[in-house]
Amino acid sequence: MENQEQLDQFQAYVDQEMKVEAKDWMPEKYRNTLIRQIAQHAHSEVVGMLPEANWVTRAPSLKRKAILLAKIQDEGGHGLYLYSACETLGVDRDTLIDELHDGTAKYSSIFNYPTLNWADIGAVGWLVDGAAIVNQVSLQRTSYGPYSRAMIRICKEESFHQRQGYVIMMEMAKGTPAQKAMAQDALNRWWWPSLMMFGPSDKDSLHSQQNMAWKIKRHSNDELRQKFVDMTVPQTEYLGLTLPDPDLKWNAERGHYDFGEINWDEFWQVVRGNGKCNKERIAARQKAHDEGAWVREAALAYAAKKRNKKGAA
Ligand SMILES: [Fe+2]
Ligand SMILES: [Fe+2]
Repeated sequence: MENQEQLDQFQAYVDQEMKVEAKDWMPEKYRNTLIRQIAQHAHSEVVGMLPEANWVTRAPSLKRKAILLAKIQDEGGHGLYLYSACETLGVDRDTLIDELHDGTAKYSSIFNYPTLNWADIGAVGWLVDGAAIVNQVSLQRTSYGPYSRAMIRICKEESFHQRQGYVIMMEMAKGTPAQKAMAQDALNRWWWPSLMMFGPSDKDSLHSQQNMAWKIKRHSNDELRQKFVDMTVPQTEYLGLTLPDPDLKWNAERGHYDFGEINWDEFWQVVRGNGKCNKERIAARQKAHDEGAWVREAALAYAAKKRNKKGAA
């Protein structure tokens, strides 16, 4: 049982900006929140590979194909780091994967939108990885040590992801009128879902306060969303494209851009499984998992054989 003294001690420890490590005592609610959050993050990394994998065979040049492949491979690596970080909290990977497949666990809703043309790969790298960076830079200072360290490594690769997306957008925005129109179309479709990536508004976010107190979260959803908007507007202007928001304007008093109302109905619809690609994404993950069973079995058999040999020697 947890008593108040333990909880107070834990809070005092976290307040000193000390990292909580796997073997340290922690409140059950802290542990469970982190398991849910890190698992959701890990699932997002691997499900996020799917909309991009859609374009590997159709990338317009060998160079673009190689860059996209490297980027997708990074995301697989991020998933692995994060599953490992999650396992340090006492949950095993099989359970996590089962929860993804049976729908108990969530992943970022943005990956339930389709990638329809090549400019979508640009928009995804620029906006989706861009939004992920804003969130992950903040999480580098999260109080749980293994998660914080995973974020530091992951952020180094994310800036390359964002950059490769922006370069695709630059080339298309400065290309033929048809290419520029494709870039604008991709931006129109990805802008609002990117803003939704930061999650519900602070006033509607259930766990926010406790998570801020425990320093799991370092900035609120609305603060991070504002940061992303402020960062992205000048990048859009440089491309000569327009953000699909008539209410977007600079607010000199606040020193930030004001922007329009997010369609939260759409957000909750997609979270509840009614997005364009929810079923397709989970089916693809399940298929990859089933088809990879023999690899996992072989790896385990090989490890057992090595262990036995060592034991005999
Ligand atoms: Fe990633
Ligand atoms: Fe990424």
